[in-house]
Amino acid sequence: MQSGPIGIFDSGYGGLTVMKEIVKKLPQYDYIYLGDNARAPYGNRSFETVYEYTLQCVNNLFNKGCNLIILACNTASAKALRNIQQRDLPLMDSRLRVLGVIRPTAELLGNYSKSKNVGILATSGTVSSNSYPIEIEKFFPEITVHQEACPIWVPLIENNEFNNIGAEYFIQKHINNLLSKSNNIDTILLGCTHYPLLENKIKEILPKNITLLSQGNIIANSLKDYLNRHNELEELCSKNGKVAFYTTDSTEIFDKQGDIFYGKKLKSEYLHIR
Ligand code: DGL
Repeated sequence: MQSGPIGIFDSGYGGLTVMKEIVKKLPQYDYIYLGDNARAPYGNRSFETVYEYTLQCVNNLFNKGCNLIILACNTASAKALRNIQQRDLPLMDSRLRVLGVIRPTAELLGNYSKSKNVGILATSGTVSSNSYPIEIEKFFPEITVHQEACPIWVPLIENNEFNNIGAEYFIQKHINNLLSKSNNIDTILLGCTHYPLLENKIKEILPKNITLLSQGNIIANSLKDYLNRHNELEELCSKNGKVAFYTTDSTEIFDKQGDIFYGKKLKSEYLHIR
């Protein structure tokens, strides 16, 4: 088996906020990003659809030579990862791996909360899957998890409308809803990889005693640790420090929008998903 790039997948641009931190922490590896922009957002789609779309994208990344793929998308991690790991990977080369972002986040989240009350802001899909409460319970049974679905946030972000006055109404609305679920929340997770773009606006609204977390750093640290512990897989990750970006929609739009998420200019190629 040849070594290959690490694949990073999201429904659209959100995973770039995670990839940015991963590349900063682990610049020696090669990476391929794939955004399924033609079919984003995934947040309101059914389990079957998210699974079908995610599996297609994962297979395309395997075809491009990736041996390890990170689903840098909470919705795909919540709705597709388990099926891919249990049904599809066993039929492939046993060295291939697909990892998600929910478990590594859940493993740490409880450490931040003194009040033992954590808030999750995420897509409807992630919230309705209950993946965060289920995973957090395994590591921190004493923590109460309060969730709020914010179905309008991803479309606002994907359409670059998140800095407008209209967006503020929806940001405030969902923060109010979350905080009304408990007076004791002292830690809030941005449980969608698109949401770091709203981080500053949310911080302005939140009471100062509440810690706001996004996933980029958490996932980068957890990947570093994972590769340290899995030597055989680490050796299958090529190391030329190259990054490539693919989108299933217009490359022109991806390049224009993508840099807002990635923090620097990027150049994408079109990938026809089949
Ligand atoms: N960025 C994705 C996540 O982390 C979801 C965006 C979407 O709705 O497609 O959940």
